[in-house]
Amino acid sequence: MFKINDNYQKLPGSYLFSTIAKKVAAYTQANPKKDIIRLGIGDVTQPLAPAVINAMHKAVDEMADAATFRGYAPDLGYEFLRNAIAEHDYKARGCDIEPGEIFVSDGAKSDSANIQEIFAQDNKIAVCDPVYPVYVDSNVMSGRTGTYDAVSGTWSDVVYMPCTMENQFAPEFPKETPDIIYLCLPNNPTGTTITKSQLQEWVDYANKVGAVIIYDGAYEAYISEGDVAHSIYECEGARTCAIELKSFSKNAGFTGVRLGYTVVPKDLKCGEASLHGMWARRHGTKFNGAPYIVQRAGEAVYSPEGKAQLKEQVAYYMKNASAIKSGLQEAGYTVFGGVNAPYIWLKTPDKMTSWDFFDYLLEQANVVGTPGSGFGPSGEGYFRLTAFGSYENTLKALERIRKV
Ligand code: MLT
Repeated sequence: MFKINDNYQKLPGSYLFSTIAKKVAAYTQANPKKDIIRLGIGDVTQPLAPAVINAMHKAVDEMADAATFRGYAPDLGYEFLRNAIAEHDYKARGCDIEPGEIFVSDGAKSDSANIQEIFAQDNKIAVCDPVYPVYVDSNVMSGRTGTYDAVSGTWSDVVYMPCTMENQFAPEFPKETPDIIYLCLPNNPTGTTITKSQLQEWVDYANKVGAVIIYDGAYEAYISEGDVAHSIYECEGARTCAIELKSFSKNAGFTGVRLGYTVVPKDLKCGEASLHGMWARRHGTKFNGAPYIVQRAGEAVYSPEGKAQLKEQVAYYMKNASAIKSGLQEAGYTVFGGVNAPYIWLKTPDKMTSWDFFDYLLEQANVVGTPGSGFGPSGEGYFRLTAFGSYENTLKALERIRKV
């Protein structure tokens, strides 16, 4: 008789964004005439940049000709893309990362869920609370998190680092020493970040205690302040303690196209074992590469035209962020984020729970957001709005929220 991976049975409820989608679908079915504005999941709304589209068209034509057709991509990704990433995302920022340390993938979500596979089961993970649910759920699936306490919403074997307005949403070194530390900066969901010197402290800490940092830099393109690191490898010593995950979803609108990459420096070792070698082995065995057409699209993100067009796109979303932030502040809300990230994190009014506020906004304003408690217990009493809507819808949603 076959047996299942029992760890899946431990997962409470469904994935946060699936739960929200179900709730919204039920509301829409019951109220088909209502015009719902979705500022929940961080999904982009603007079309792909012309430079990206042109590169894709060209690559499609290449695939139609036997002389230029491509089959399986190289394990780590095409050199043209890895060279562009190394040049623009690292060398240009003074980071010592070579193309051979970059693993192109179909997105940061899958990499952030899969990376835990190369670590032993008895590693202790530390996460910010609130946190992007994938980090915790993927460790639950692999049996690394102990038992779930439904009352506190926490796992017995996970170290939680609360990030609330009381500590300016900056994680503090935990009392219990972790082995694997997940950091997402600028942060999803709070939309806040820490300074480069604060990040350097985390790198020093990880090197001191022998921990590895899984650094999710998906929102890096939204950084507007000068003292914020664009990559963890701007910090001294990060090559021996950090893995960096990057996405093309938020900076270039690839949520439906799928492209990301992970950096595993060759200096990152556990005794004699090279994590780079392990991830390369995993990649080779379990992955057949992002499509050629998509990797060419990714390369175009770094072209002069691509860069200029995407700068405008990021500015478009940040104009939304700033409108939401100031509009809500004027309406008396306590609001965070929205300066270095496309997320606005607000305190729910009148001490409402996050889910009560979700229902309230859906029913009274027909606006969908994301309840803070869905990201972890310290998110209770908070609510997230995304700046990824259209400008018109963002203003409309704001107007409605201000009225209720
Ligand atoms: C979010 O809304 O938190 C993000 O869209 C999730 C993701 O990037 O997978």
